[in-house]
Amino acid sequence: MTDTIDIKVTKVEQSRLTVTDFSQLPFGKVFTDHMFLCDYEDGAWKNPRIVPYGPIPMSPAISALHYGQAIFEGIKAYRQPDGKISIFRPEKNFDRFNKSAKRMAMPEVDKEIFMQGMAELINVDEKWVPSQEDYALYIRPVMYATEPYLGVKASDTYTFAILTTPTGKYYTKSLRVKVETEFTRADDGGVGFAKTAGNYARSLYPFEVAKKEGFDQLLWTDAQTHEFIEEAGTANLLFVIDGKLVTPSVRTTVLDGVTRDTIIQLAKANGIEVEERRLSVKEVIEGIENGRLTEAFAAGTAATVTHIGVINYNGKDYQLTDPETRKVSNGIAKQLNDIKYGLATDNFGWNW
Ligand code: COI
Repeated sequence: MTDTIDIKVTKVEQSRLTVTDFSQLPFGKVFTDHMFLCDYEDGAWKNPRIVPYGPIPMSPAISALHYGQAIFEGIKAYRQPDGKISIFRPEKNFDRFNKSAKRMAMPEVDKEIFMQGMAELINVDEKWVPSQEDYALYIRPVMYATEPYLGVKASDTYTFAILTTPTGKYYTKSLRVKVETEFTRADDGGVGFAKTAGNYARSLYPFEVAKKEGFDQLLWTDAQTHEFIEEAGTANLLFVIDGKLVTPSVRTTVLDGVTRDTIIQLAKANGIEVEERRLSVKEVIEGIENGRLTEAFAAGTAATVTHIGVINYNGKDYQLTDPETRKVSNGIAKQLNDIKYGLATDNFGWNW
């Protein structure tokens, strides 16, 4: 960062820390005492501030509510053995946030606002960073359009906010997933690669249908043929086939996941061959049947590394190997955790 910014800090009168049960931290439900806010108007970001976490007054006409100009990120901060706090690869999220902003005709956020806002917020709420195993402080930067105007155009004003929430695992068990062949998450030329609210909104009905059928998640396929695996919506997808790590290549329909990228780098450093390419449902199903596909997992900031236990395709369940026996994904998941929690040397310079 080149410049530093002045952030006005208004602290809570009474912290909620002492009344928060750290043994009960479902994902994204418990928020820390403070949040970071910054407003965009007249072509510039203004008034960066840390204030008590709480409702934000707004007009019901703001364009984010009507036309969906809203983007977000997911980052985690980890308690280190010496008590300090480390944020994992936040610059990657910063870059992706601004890519999402560009695609959604929103202004880019200045790097010092994103990075310093996040760091100062975490300093203020430092005690909220959990120290239990597998827990972290989840950081949620979000930007939304605030112009109260019903004409369809890019808003002239925005709010950038950062929320933080101490959290455990997003998924607490291996997943039973369904290959989605009716609905579509993203289309070529669309916004699938952007972390924008609408991508999640359109996934909710198909997800509700799948949940009723007993599934934990969907494996989204391409819009044209429904023959190629894309991603899981809440995470990217990776497979081990013939001992190689195979993952659908990122494209306009697939989010360029930070955890996905991290796992690819770790696999390569371990001498594992990595293939980023189109991956057909047929190859996955045949691989399970003939034993060449030995592992399948979802990877994301919230999801971390979550094993896939069963894949359902066209109404038939395909059972994968016992997650405990999976050498590649368990090995990489441990290596990744050790780096994040400061238990292993960070040769990649990922911790900030
Ligand atoms: C994340 O992994 O940070 C995500 O944003 C996925 C999600 C829970 C929506």
